[in-house]
Amino acid sequence: MLTKEQKEKIISFSKKCVEKNDPFHDFSHISMVARNAVSIAKKEGADPEISEVAALLHDICKSEPGDHGTSGACKARDFLLSIRASGAFADAVAEAIHFHDKESRERSPESAALWDADKLYILTPRGFVSRMCPFWIMKLGEEKGIEKAVYEYYFYKERLNTKTARAIVEKHSKTMDAIIQGLKKTMDSELS
Ligand SMILES: [Fe+2]
Repeated sequence: MLTKEQKEKIISFSKKCVEKNDPFHDFSHISMVARNAVSIAKKEGADPEISEVAALLHDICKSEPGDHGTSGACKARDFLLSIRASGAFADAVAEAIHFHDKESRERSPESAALWDADKLYILTPRGFVSRMCPFWIMKLGEEKGIEKAVYEYYFYKERLNTKTARAIVEKHSKTMDAIIQGLKKTMDSELS
């Protein structure tokens, strides 16, 4: 179990590392994923502390080139060992981070909790709509940005690991369908 001081160090390390991330992966994304990861972990029998720390550190290499799951896992592991977390804890966190951006048939329960918590962000109205932010749309071009968000909604919806996450997505599915239909109509209309 981590001490209060270790937890504070993890949070400030995360905040510092994600400073250069795009607005969609800033610390508000990280803290929401961490909250979701803890609640999924508690309901699904995963370790809440491993899941929370993995969520806090999962995007620490997001602004760097290359595979941010792999580099983030190494960086997180080194950091956790530097603040005297146990090797087993650091390994479990690193494993969840490594697989948070990769499909895998065999996930640890904490990896499943992190994957679902991260994807829930784009599968529910608040996160989905935030992808329509000017930065993201401008970066990809309006139509491409919307198309990518819609494509990923269906793609990740099929790939959730836990009953808990599936139930949350189901609860929002009518609203999400209405948003997606509305966006499609807007894109099809010449008077949009
Ligand atoms: Fe994320």
